[in-house]
Amino acid sequence: MDKKNLSGENFRDQFYALLASRKSIRAFDPKLPSKEVIERLLQAAFQAPSGKNRQNWRFFVVTGQKREEYLQLSQKSWLGIKDILEKRLKPSLYQFTERFFFTLGDAPVIIFAYSHNTPDERYHTSIGSVYMAVENLNLACLVEGLGCCTMGAPLEISKEVDQFLGVTELPEYKSGELELLCAVVLGYPKHDPPKAPRQTEGRVTWISEAPEV
Ligand SMILES: Cc1cc2nc3c(=O)[nH]c(=O)nc-3n(C[C@H](O)[C@H](O)[C@H](O)COP(=O)(O)O)c2cc1C
Repeated sequence: MDKKNLSGENFRDQFYALLASRKSIRAFDPKLPSKEVIERLLQAAFQAPSGKNRQNWRFFVVTGQKREEYLQLSQKSWLGIKDILEKRLKPSLYQFTERFFFTLGDAPVIIFAYSHNTPDERYHTSIGSVYMAVENLNLACLVEGLGCCTMGAPLEISKEVDQFLGVTELPEYKSGELELLCAVVLGYPKHDPPKAPRQTEGRVTWISEAPEV
């Protein structure tokens, strides 16, 4: 890749603007992105850093009829999370979220992200590596004109998801090393929600050896 295009003020500003424009999308056009596009998203994920460069992410891509079948499981995951959300969300947002769990916003693609945890790496490092890849995937969606929402909800029913995907047959699953971390639902966006506000207070502590003059 030509590095000249990846430097300078223009590139910097565009990069930060890209990060600022990322937001979770929960309503999609059912049109399926091409396989070529989905493969570019995965290639972007593979560019992420990982502990000891183990690249311990594993992705399972679900589309078509299998996606339809997954909706039944998604509805079940709602039961595990609805009581918490009822207390935290205002009624309109609660209803939107409930509908989202039932339809996944018509997202035509669901990518399940797993971590392959092996004894040669610390558990949290393995997990963190996979989430770095998932963030790359989120950003790649943006530049492809796609939207996505990363979802922890499938963890409510992780054993059923493992079976649904056939992951349970894999030797690394049988040895207890494969763990579902999240799903990313994606497709062409059908809404443009406001950016969720960011908080900076209390998030950063600067440790300085001497006060600045
Ligand atoms: C690990 C993780 C799990 C999440 N799980 C869900 C989920 O189950 N359902 C959902 O609607 N959004 C989920 N989200 C999206 C967050 O709600 C969203 O990122 C957050 O509200 C900030 O909004 P933004 O992504 O638009 O900036 C999840 C995000 C992350 C990173």
